[in-house]
Amino acid sequence: MPPTRTQLSQAYPIDSSIDADGRLQLGGCDAVELAREFGTPAYIVSEDDLRARAQAFVEAFRTRTKDFDVLFASKAFPCTAIYRVLAQEGIACDVASGGELSLALRGGFDPARIYMHGNAKSVAELRFARRAGVGHIVIDNHDEIERLEAVVDDGEPQPVLLRVTPDVRGRTNDKISTGQADSKFGFSIAQAPAAIARVQGSDRLDLVGLHMHIGSQILELEPFRLAIEAIAPLGDFSTYNLGGGLGVAYTADQEPPRIADYVAAKVDAVTRVLGPGKRILDEPGRALVANSTVTLYTVQSVKRNVSTWVGVDGGMSDNLRPMLYDSVYEAQVADRFGGGTLSRLAGKHCESGDVIVREVELNDPRVGDVIVTPATGAYGHAMANNYNGVPRPPVIMVSHGDARVVVRRETYDDLAARDVE
Ligand SMILES: Cc1ncc(COP(=O)(O)O)c(C=O)c1O
Repeated sequence: MPPTRTQLSQAYPIDSSIDADGRLQLGGCDAVELAREFGTPAYIVSEDDLRARAQAFVEAFRTRTKDFDVLFASKAFPCTAIYRVLAQEGIACDVASGGELSLALRGGFDPARIYMHGNAKSVAELRFARRAGVGHIVIDNHDEIERLEAVVDDGEPQPVLLRVTPDVRGRTNDKISTGQADSKFGFSIAQAPAAIARVQGSDRLDLVGLHMHIGSQILELEPFRLAIEAIAPLGDFSTYNLGGGLGVAYTADQEPPRIADYVAAKVDAVTRVLGPGKRILDEPGRALVANSTVTLYTVQSVKRNVSTWVGVDGGMSDNLRPMLYDSVYEAQVADRFGGGTLSRLAGKHCESGDVIVREVELNDPRVGDVIVTPATGAYGHAMANNYNGVPRPPVIMVSHGDARVVVRRETYDDLAARDVE
């Protein structure tokens, strides 16, 4: 019986398709051929998808307001080649550590358009940011105010934003919710006035506005409006950084708001509640990169006991999200889309919880098949690790039939590269 043909879901990159032979094509390249050429597991990034989403964000703002900037929240995919593509698209950047700052600079971001975050920035990180000429530092807590003042010792005030938690929650996993009052991030609404006064009184810091971020993978627009209303009483500022948070489709049945609707909701709320003429900053991370990328694996074993366990050559070392947040992914056999065998897609790690997809219909999975999981661009490479001594996967960028390695696969020698004896 011929396999049931399945439509590609919106979780896949925009330039992916299934060809007449039922084989997955990514950026004009055959997925199974990519697996053969570069090995598995591998992250395959569609360059055109990345560029299209960056352009969609910029365009959505440009049609609604004059004064804005779109920042790539680079924690989602901190990889030089990704920074480079997004810098070329003219967007700005947010970094959450000295390491991300170093990669962002290497990727070509103008330091003046970099914003540095973090609830526990060290003196060394603040000094690095200051010397690099980072445009804005987002102050998170009282301890940091003094630490930053000490670093600003050349007579030129450092532009800063102050991070507040509006006590508004989006409906999302607790571990990626950030806007509640009792958060490790930012000042609560109650504490914010004293912090604002303290920073405004500093001759070393120049407070240009407020920052907030209510959480990630938010699939409704109302919390963003409520958060803007919540911070309005804190004063009148020229700049408001509204964080990121727009959710993405990990599976066919998830319906995130369109980029244009998300931007319209935020811009309209700022104009209505905070007044016209405000500079609006937004920090999409996941919404820029998640759907640009898929992961390819190779099946190593198919075991039938109570369930059908399809064991692949990666897992929690290349995608931690299912284990951290119970995130749900799709999977398919890359050259035989369709269902038929209810399977558990298991990783190779020595850990029962290392299950990439709990329940997935695969088409007669066999050893040697290439499996694809879409929507792994956000927090895949970013959270990759060496658990069980597994080398981290390469990042391969595809576009119009070309594929190039932008991060090579780790080697066993890399695993020992930091040994000193
Ligand atoms: C300050 C800040 N900005 C932006 C983001 C990116 O969020 P997302 O990837 O959901 O767009 C985060 C994520 O936690 C964040 O903390």
